[in-house]
This record gives sequence, C-alpha cells and structure tokens, in this order.
Amino acid sequence: MAAKKKTIIYNILFVLICGGLFLFLWNAPPETTAHLPHDEDHERFMNMGKKEAEKFCAECHAPDTIAPLPEDHPPKYRCLFCHKRVNQGM
Ligand code: HEC
Ligand code: HEC
Repeated sequence: MAAKKKTIIYNILFVLICGGLFLFLWNAPPETTAHLPHDEDHERFMNMGKKEAEKFCAECHAPDTIAPLPEDHPPKYRCLFCHKRVNQGM
C-alpha cells in the first residue's frame, strides 16, 4: 500500500513538473527582433507574399543604400522570418 502511494505521489510530481515546464516555455521571453515598421517605406509589404516582398528589401537595406544593415547583422536571407509583420497573425 505504501509503495502504491509513493507511485501516486511521483506521478503527481511528474505532472506538476511537466506543467511547469510547459508554462515556462509558453511564457518564453518575447522576441526582441525589430518588427517590420509600419511606415511609408514598409506599409506596402504588409500584404504581399513574403518572398515577393523580400525582393524589395535590398533596394534600401543593401550596403550603400539609404538604410544599410548593421555590420553585425545575422545571416539575412528571408528577412521576414525574423522581422515579423505584426498585424497579420505572423
Ligand atoms: C523604400 C526604402 C525601404 C525599403 C524598400 C525597405 N526598407 Fe526597411 N527601412 C527603411 C528605412 C529608411 C529605415 C530606417 C528608418 C525607419 O526605421 O523607418 C528602415 C528600417 C527597417 C527596419 C528597422 C526597424 C526598427 O525598428 O529599427 C527593419 C527591420 C526593416 N527596415 C526591414 C525591412 C524589410 C524586411 C524590408 C523588405 C520587406 C524593407 N525593410 C524594405 C527603408 C526601406
Ligand atoms: C536570422 C534573423 C534575421 C534575418 C533573416 C534578418 N534579420 Fe535583420 N536583424 C536581425 C537582428 C537580430 C537584428 C538586430 C536586433 C534588432 O532587430 O533589434 C537585425 C537588425 C536589422 C536592422 C536594423 C534595426 C535597427 O534597429 O537598427 C534592419 C534595418 C534589418 N535588420 C533589416 C533586415 C533585412 C532587410 C533583412 C533581409 C535582407 C533582414 N534584416 C534579415 C535578425 C534578422
């Protein structure tokens, strides 16, 4: 009987730990990468296909354009995977 009780307690603990982990992951820190801005330059991309939109980014964000990327910018293919468009259910 005592052994059975122990098993039940371990099972409850297991469930609690899983629940805790789940909540922890669920509340994981918010993404900090800048979203695609809502302004004249970017508004037209909000409703475009991602691949379609990404063809235009380099017009202004390649080196020697008006808004070159920072030198320590991470690998940059598929801009919109990281710089999400808010509004549009990601
Ligand atoms: C017509 C020019 C132009 C185009 C095209 C353009 N951008 Fe920009 N972008 C800018 C300028 C200028 C800034 C800096 C000023 C600002 O924050 O609006 C900027 C800023 C940004 C920022 C920084 C926002 C912040 O909060 O710091 C991100 C991210 C960005 N652009 C992503 C993109 C992506 C992704 C694309 C392609 C889908 C794109 N841009 C296309 C001109 C452009
Ligand atoms: C792997 C993820 C990733 C991809 C892909 C990516 N970026 Fe970034 N980008 C970042 C991170 C991280 C930063 C610096 C932190 C931040 O955004 O606040 C950054 C910064 C920027 C900034 C400067 C933001 C500022 O506040 O000064 C611009 C502009 C930008 N990215 C545009 C682009 C464009 C255009 C592309 C596609 C050619 C692109 N990014 C692809 C992750 C990414």
